[in-house]
Amino acid sequence: MPHITVKPFDTSIIKKGEYGKTKLLFTASDTHSDDELIGVKHEEESFLLHLKKGVENWLLKYDKVTRPLKVNLVKQAIANLSSAFELEVLQSNIAIHPNKPVLANAYEKRIEDFTNIEFPFESVAIEVGFGSGKHLLYQAQQNPNRLFIGIEIHTPSAAQVLKQIKILGLNNIWVVNYDARLLLESIPSNSCHQIFVHFPVPWDKKPHRRVISSSFLEESMRVLEKHGRLELRTDSYKYFWYALETFLGDKVSKTSVEVRKNEALAVTSKYEARWIKQEKDIYDVYVTCLEESEERVLDFDFSFHDVLYKKELLDKINYKPLIFEDAFIHFERLFKVGDEAVLIKLAFGSFDRPEHKFIYMDQFETYYFNSNPVKTLTNYKTHFKIMEYLHV
Ligand SMILES: C[S@@+](CC[C@H](N)C(=O)[O-])C[C@H]1O[C@@H](n2cnc3c(N)ncnc32)[C@H](O)[C@@H]1O
Repeated sequence: MPHITVKPFDTSIIKKGEYGKTKLLFTASDTHSDDELIGVKHEEESFLLHLKKGVENWLLKYDKVTRPLKVNLVKQAIANLSSAFELEVLQSNIAIHPNKPVLANAYEKRIEDFTNIEFPFESVAIEVGFGSGKHLLYQAQQNPNRLFIGIEIHTPSAAQVLKQIKILGLNNIWVVNYDARLLLESIPSNSCHQIFVHFPVPWDKKPHRRVISSSFLEESMRVLEKHGRLELRTDSYKYFWYALETFLGDKVSKTSVEVRKNEALAVTSKYEARWIKQEKDIYDVYVTCLEESEERVLDFDFSFHDVLYKKELLDKINYKPLIFEDAFIHFERLFKVGDEAVLIKLAFGSFDRPEHKFIYMDQFETYYFNSNPVKTLTNYKTHFKIMEYLHV
């Protein structure tokens, strides 16, 4: 991931302003370390850069939570700032032409694009965690009239498949670099024909990170059209039983569940090929939706109204997680933007589908940087609790 190592410098030279195509919005100093975050806007995308201060040298790199999918944007922003501030670069992996335009990719979608979405295809399928994308690309080639929404949390895999879409000249794949568990909530009811979950990470030691859960199943059944199917494929016997138990659990009212063993599919992912070579058994569980679901109206407002920054907040913020019945708030870090503003890093929402965000607050405005949380009921309810807490 893009970064440069630089000689320590006097950070008072970092000032708001426009540096080439990079607009520097603010700098924020960590209250627990010497690190700083730099808020930038580059080609309509806002994100943070992280200045990590070591003893001998400093690292200027991307920030995980706000990083855009187009890595080149981060590279260009780093290049622009480092040349504007005449930083002494010791090491760099941002080999780019700083002015090379970043091509917009029509097949990359963001979670915001799903607000009031209407799909311009006959039918829709979703693949959760497509990895190398072999199955996703194959399905899209075989079904040109169907839109395939591939959701992948791992940014390099998402970027790789976007390249493949271009090479293969496909027009029926959308790639979303996001947590599928959250994105699913933004998909309209009764709109999908199939949902593929192939070889999800079993997370035996951290079950809260699993994709399959009773709430994921509930959402899948809402999103699927009547007779649409959720298809799980796994090499883990333990995960297979866990999923089956979840699928038959009491949250689901009416479905048909089918189990298959060692079924050969037309396409084998690299991951699957490894298990086949080891002669491991592979299990499929298909859950067919048998009912129509109600439309979901996502009319949530994530503004902060009159909650503004006051100095008293600095003493109030507690870094221990606040636990509620079905949600939590964890203020992780506080960064000061001069004396009159702060940037708060936090995680919140449901335990198995947490949001990671930054909140920017000054005396005039408060907002989520660089985008609002996903419109889920849990996030919305937790947003109210966050507002209450930040109101001093
Ligand atoms: C073991 S790999 C399987 C990849 C591919 N389906 C295959 O069969 O080769 C699991 C994939 O799921 C992705 N993943 C894990 N949790 C996810 C989530 N919550 N949302 C979207 N993708 C996720 C991982 O990044 C990884 O690429």
